[in-house]
Amino acid sequence: MRARIAVLGGDGIGPEVAGQGAAVLRAVAAQGGHQFELTEALVGGAAIDATGQPLPPATLALCRASDAILFGAIGGPRWGPSAPVRPEQGLLALRRELGLFANLRPVTVNPRLAGASPLKPELLVGVDLLVVRELTGGIYFGEKTRTATSASDLCSYTVAEVERVVRVAGALARRRRRKITSVDKANVLETSRLWREVAERVVRAEFPDCTHEHQLVDSCAMQLVRRPADFDVVVTENMFGDILTDEASVLAGSIGLLPSASLGAGRCGLYEPIHGSAPDIAGKGIANPYGTIMSVAMLLRHSLGLEAEAAAVERAVDQAIAAGLLTPDLGGTASTGEAGAAVVRALRLDTPAA
Ligand code: IPM
Ligand code: MG
Repeated sequence: MRARIAVLGGDGIGPEVAGQGAAVLRAVAAQGGHQFELTEALVGGAAIDATGQPLPPATLALCRASDAILFGAIGGPRWGPSAPVRPEQGLLALRRELGLFANLRPVTVNPRLAGASPLKPELLVGVDLLVVRELTGGIYFGEKTRTATSASDLCSYTVAEVERVVRVAGALARRRRRKITSVDKANVLETSRLWREVAERVVRAEFPDCTHEHQLVDSCAMQLVRRPADFDVVVTENMFGDILTDEASVLAGSIGLLPSASLGAGRCGLYEPIHGSAPDIAGKGIANPYGTIMSVAMLLRHSLGLEAEAAAVERAVDQAIAAGLLTPDLGGTASTGEAGAAVVRALRLDTPAA
């Protein structure tokens, strides 16, 4: 197939890991006989330095014209948090402009890496959960005010915003263990009471074959490390999802392993590792590329419909890990380039049945 893919490396380790993701995309194209047109563009701090804007119009136009976006990471001490223009605004604007309202963040534990997590190995057996984070609403996008002595961030949700993300979670639960945990703070927040009512109604009416429960976000944060294997699909609002997924990454052993997909109504999605720009290790060539490469697998699956290719990339990452190609965050000595090259070497697309 032909596909146009925008590659936005961003800041810090972003370009290093995005480079490895792009190399895997090229290897998939070569083996599978696909034509992937990869085009790089500026975003975040790098774009502020070059153009004064975190999301230059040319980058947004490229993304709109693409079938998928591979994203590295943004941000760094040079730009904020009190700077007038900040790198994060670029990513938030991209999510919003492209209507990418559902953020999928799968968390699994590779048994070989169970020792990399600070949690007891027996707690990690069978962990396989998927957080569906609402991505274009809530406190992230509400009106912000600031005076000399006060500040406020408005949190609001509409029924339609909750319905559509719960539907995404329900559809994904059907392909998994059919259990949905909706997370809110309904004992305190009005937006959470709305969230709970809508989630309850949508799941009962449209996903009666799934079991569901509601958890308060503080309790959920505890259960995620007490009994993580009990979770299947977790659906929650923007900020709770941001916080809970950094916590959940501890289960996997390193935040550097975790991928994400941000999806909207169409097929175009944005794919990025959930880690940040890690300025402390930027330029050293030691960042873990596996979260980005697993994001490439999600890109192939969700935006291009190439399931066999996606599965082949996931197998290749497993093999690279099994061969001991681990970056320092996982206790190894492999470089970003060595780990990425090991994935490319291990890549074998399924030969179609005769
Ligand atoms: C994430 C990040 C972003 C967020 C930042 C960089 C704006 O933490 O993708 O989880 O808060 O959504
Ligand atoms: Mg985050």
